[in-house]
Amino acid sequence: MRILVLGSAAGGGFPQWNCSCPVCRLAWAGDTRVKPRSQSSLAVTADGTRWLLLNASPDLRQQIIASPDLHPRGASRHSPIAAVFVTNGDVDHLAGLLTLREQQSFVLFGSRATLDQVAATSLFGVLNRDLVKTCPVELDEAVETGLGLTVRPFAVPGKVPLYLEQADLVIGAETESTIGLEVSDGKNTFFYIPGCAEINERVEKRLSGAEVLFFDGTTFTDDEMVALGLSTKTAWRMGHVSMSGEKGSVARLAGSGIGRKIYIHINNTNPVLVEDSQERAMVEQAGWEVAYDGMEVVL
Ligand code: MLT
Ligand code: MN
Ligand code: ZN
Repeated sequence: MRILVLGSAAGGGFPQWNCSCPVCRLAWAGDTRVKPRSQSSLAVTADGTRWLLLNASPDLRQQIIASPDLHPRGASRHSPIAAVFVTNGDVDHLAGLLTLREQQSFVLFGSRATLDQVAATSLFGVLNRDLVKTCPVELDEAVETGLGLTVRPFAVPGKVPLYLEQADLVIGAETESTIGLEVSDGKNTFFYIPGCAEINERVEKRLSGAEVLFFDGTTFTDDEMVALGLSTKTAWRMGHVSMSGEKGSVARLAGSGIGRKIYIHINNTNPVLVEDSQERAMVEQAGWEVAYDGMEVVL
């Protein structure tokens, strides 16, 4: 199984088009201590030819261009992308579906809640229903993708997408709105959880002893965006657990026996993006890797 990190940044990418936070400023200046990153997506294959996308980011066209494995082959229309599995309805995970129009067949997997949202958004009607098959999945039931990959979706603490938030918003609910994926080729397995509001005992138990984990690396501190004066929202309020702190992913997954722990969905404000930062050294000393676009994991 080959796993390709198409995009390692959170929504907005890195640098974000309108951001001059200290980390984005380095990227705008071309500082070599930071690598620009596109928005959140992985691609995985069991046979080296047919690929499953995990989320479809607004940067998908550039990600395909940057990844020779995903270029079309043959004389006519073709794509190695055979299916897409989405983990929530956020813009950074759905907008790339618009890139996949142009009369191409693929299968779209996701929770019923997320696929209902796709169906309710008339713009996604550009996807030809005769060619794009939607396949709602049940939580905690293994899904055979037909690509030599089995995917088990499960709820993690999260929230509804930003654009669906209402007065009755619940954060940390474990529903179809935010799911994690356990992906297996029959021999090896990895977990993909780009958004998770809290690492509770259920999450901890599920991940214990995992071979490889790609996990929510949105912010380093819970109040990161607030402290920078960029937002009034903590990471928790956005549905993400921070890396640092008592309840953070570094502490909560320290004794988990996970083989490789890799941060993905990293927000542009996160100081771990700066390669010589104290924060980067801290997470690496704790056994974490920080994903970058083009990173490949072979299992
Ligand atoms: C998130 O991960 O919190 C969302 O992608 C935010 C957004 O929709 O911009
Ligand atoms: Mn996001
Ligand atoms: Zn920024």
